[in-house]
Amino acid sequence: MKSAKSYIQDNKERFLNELIELLKIPSISADPSYKEDVLKTAEAVKTALENAGCDTVEICETPGYPIVYGEKILNKNLPTVLVYGHYDVQPPDPLELWDSPPFEPVIKKTDLHPEGAIFARGACDDKGQMYMHVKALEYMTTSNQLPCNVKFMIEGEEEVGSSSLGWFVKRNHQKLANDIILISDTGMIAKDVPSITTGLRGLSYVEVEVTGPNRDLHSGLYGGAVANPINILAKMIASLHDENNHITIPGFYDDVEELTQAERAKMAEAPFNLEAYKKALDIADVYGEKGYTTNERNSIRPTLDVNGIWGGYIGEGAKTVIPSKAYAKISMRLVPNQDWEKITKLFTTHFESIAPEAVKVKVTPHHGGQAYVTPIDCTGYKAAEKAYENTFGKTPIPQRSGGSIPIVALFEKELKSKTILMGFGLDSDAIHSPNEHYGIWNYLKGIETIPQFFHYFTEMSK
Ligand code: BES
Ligand code: MN
Ligand code: MN
Repeated sequence: MKSAKSYIQDNKERFLNELIELLKIPSISADPSYKEDVLKTAEAVKTALENAGCDTVEICETPGYPIVYGEKILNKNLPTVLVYGHYDVQPPDPLELWDSPPFEPVIKKTDLHPEGAIFARGACDDKGQMYMHVKALEYMTTSNQLPCNVKFMIEGEEEVGSSSLGWFVKRNHQKLANDIILISDTGMIAKDVPSITTGLRGLSYVEVEVTGPNRDLHSGLYGGAVANPINILAKMIASLHDENNHITIPGFYDDVEELTQAERAKMAEAPFNLEAYKKALDIADVYGEKGYTTNERNSIRPTLDVNGIWGGYIGEGAKTVIPSKAYAKISMRLVPNQDWEKITKLFTTHFESIAPEAVKVKVTPHHGGQAYVTPIDCTGYKAAEKAYENTFGKTPIPQRSGGSIPIVALFEKELKSKTILMGFGLDSDAIHSPNEHYGIWNYLKGIETIPQFFHYFTEMSK
């Protein structure tokens, strides 16, 4: 019987080439002009799952992009692992900041990745990480090592809020029934510091529009006499944080789960180098909520950030104008117990209340989701821990992440199962940024570790 290690060694080139082919398709879910490519990617994932040994694979239609569903059922008395991932990617903008085109994958060596890393949009988030599961399945089926049932659910709208997935999950409880959900769409602390993500933040995403006069005005003739919506919007946004960087929306913190001193002390044990963190981002200092460390600020505390702001004249040269409208996109990252719909309402009421009479304000909610925490005493977590111990030779550190996969909380609500987040990305992989990449070492280590999870989870479920 071949070990995963030797199977991976023998098939490494093919594993890389197959992923590279998948990365060439620009499956940008946010931009409707890429619709054909998104659909083509779903087809490619279907073929890959069939080749890896699924008994049945279907492309399930939804009101939006389809969900690729595949399964291999050995015996209904065995446990079932449901693997979730996404085949859509973020838009690659700004294109000029990429060293090589985002959909023409290249392998380059970096300081952190002397074995090489694949540079392409989606390399880590999430095509590369999702594909580790396809190749892990291939290994388990070809070497007769699959110990339990497996289902795959790979969606095409994660980067735009997973609204069709919610629709699909609600209608398919039976089909999706499982004992544990397994996802690789997060990161780990470092290549030599394995960690398992035990928390995801929730999200409320809104767009605001501030309207002043009914048309753009000459800024000399009217300047000083009517409200400039950009000036007003800037003021309103600035007022959303106080001098301690607390969010000023009344009621915002009411439901926030406060960690005990013991829990915070445990968190602080995870290795973290503030100097290296600052250096990697070229910043002279960090910035955030008073009373909390950097790692607390970006995981267990809620935030409010402007993602984009626009209005007025931004073309060549100068145009003297008071614009009629100003806009911003604002996201709030939420923590356990905060309800995203309640927070969206609190934001809306507050934002409308702070607007001066001189302008009109419109708040449009986009999407959202609840936070999620994986208990470290559940079978799935313990099985994952053993899997990492086996392939990394170290016990992984549980760590809450600041990112969001809003659908995970919905899985628990609808399917009543826990999710294990076995992510193999690194912060430096630049997901959502120019020059996204994924280390070949990480990719192969994931393929090696996943079958171990299946093994231990089946063992421990007996
Ligand atoms: N894979 C990420 C989320 C992530 C990355 C979590 C790293 C933890 C560590 C996912 O694709 C993502 O980008 N999610 C979005 C939310 C979505 C609703 C657009 C996010 O977190 O901004
Ligand atoms: Mn992702
Ligand atoms: Mn993403």
